[in-house]
Amino acid sequence: MTKNKNNQAIWNNRIKNKSSVLFQRVGSSINIDKRLYKEDIAGSIAHVEMLFKQKIISFKIKNKIIYGLHKIEKEISTKKFVFRTEYEDIHINIEKRLFEIIGDDAGYVHTGRSRNDQVITDLKIWIKSATKEINFTLDKIIKNILKLAEKNIDTVMPGFTHLKNAQAISFAHYLMAYIEMFYRDKKRFDNNLENLDENPLGSVALTGTSFNIDRNYTTKKLGFKRPTNNSIDTVSDRDFVLDFLYSISVCSMHISRVAEELIIWNSDGFNLINLSDKVVTGSSIMPQKKNPDLLEYLRGKTSTSYGNLFSMLTILKGLPLSYFKDLQDDKEIVFRSNDTFIDSLNIFDELLKNFNPNKKRMLELANSGHITATDLADYLVKNHSMSFRKAYQKTADIVNLAEKKKKNLNQLTLEELKKIEPKLTIDVLKVFDLRNSINSKKSYGGTSFENIKKMIMKYKNKND
Ligand code: ARG
Repeated sequence: MTKNKNNQAIWNNRIKNKSSVLFQRVGSSINIDKRLYKEDIAGSIAHVEMLFKQKIISFKIKNKIIYGLHKIEKEISTKKFVFRTEYEDIHINIEKRLFEIIGDDAGYVHTGRSRNDQVITDLKIWIKSATKEINFTLDKIIKNILKLAEKNIDTVMPGFTHLKNAQAISFAHYLMAYIEMFYRDKKRFDNNLENLDENPLGSVALTGTSFNIDRNYTTKKLGFKRPTNNSIDTVSDRDFVLDFLYSISVCSMHISRVAEELIIWNSDGFNLINLSDKVVTGSSIMPQKKNPDLLEYLRGKTSTSYGNLFSMLTILKGLPLSYFKDLQDDKEIVFRSNDTFIDSLNIFDELLKNFNPNKKRMLELANSGHITATDLADYLVKNHSMSFRKAYQKTADIVNLAEKKKKNLNQLTLEELKKIEPKLTIDVLKVFDLRNSINSKKSYGGTSFENIKKMIMKYKNKND
């Protein structure tokens, strides 16, 4: 039937000896890139439709090829397809099977294209849909944080710098800070799509082709915005892979920071939150333990994202243009990063639904560490016409006095305060009230209850 015997590599007319089993094993990527079968078939269908439109192949051959490709797609999705290591990758596995199904006419499918442009077309389409799934999950996460924030506008806690009590805040304001982080992540993933949205197909091996192909046609068919401009750059470029890996790394880093924070808050020392039994694990020896393993898992897995980003950067670092085998590793890196990340996103989402603030303890902690000292300094500036620096010094003296008397600031009497600043009146005592302190931070983006309510509304409307 065909010269292209099915147990031979496509290049067997030229390369007579079979490659060693070891070389076949390390050189083959089929176990990884078989995941691209749908994208690969869509790319091939768009390609042959274009070849027909441009009168490069006949109507009959185009239809035969499309029939075969559909059949292959079905075989793969119903797990009837046998993937073969000796055919290296998904592209050759499909082409070989096409020969088996439709015979020699399969030989027309690779006219005016190469695996070099084929593989990036597939990977770009794949990353595009992976990005959509990621952003869908990020939306869920943002919604769940919003729900928590709405319930905790009145929850008072200490805000920290250097992990020391700094100023009082609403827990909802803290949660809304997470929303900013994840919203930026969503935008970062979205922004990547703009650069990625260029169709590589038709760049062929590296030079383009002498066939009269129509790249705008395949661009439209495959849902890209425009064709890439330079065939050499196209087959060498993996910036879109880096963008994806970088965005995953940044978002993982955000998740890791939140996880670390929750681990600290869940510790017996802080005791600011409680995790439900669904998300903790026990110890094999210490019966009292409830450990936040899942949070630790999230923090740990962030290293995988960084590692993958660095692998890809390193592959590209010394690579001249254009295609080299080194690039084949991009898919393993992308899939590994994506899968770990999707797991992390879902685990994180689950965790958000499984913890509660320990409101009593939050308030108790907020009442220690002279947390309203800055409010007192601001009060002196506003009511006793002092410069901020002067007010800062006076307040420091008052804090020293409180410490000497082993009292909190709000336990000092007016008489004691007056020893440091005689002009003070009873009115000053209100600055030591935590809710008052929080509500006074009305500057845009500040923690006042009013601000938080508005911000929650703003994000709720964005997210609907
Ligand atoms: N499987 C290859 C990859 O993933 C496809 C491109 C192969 N091109 C080549 N000239 N060997 O990169």
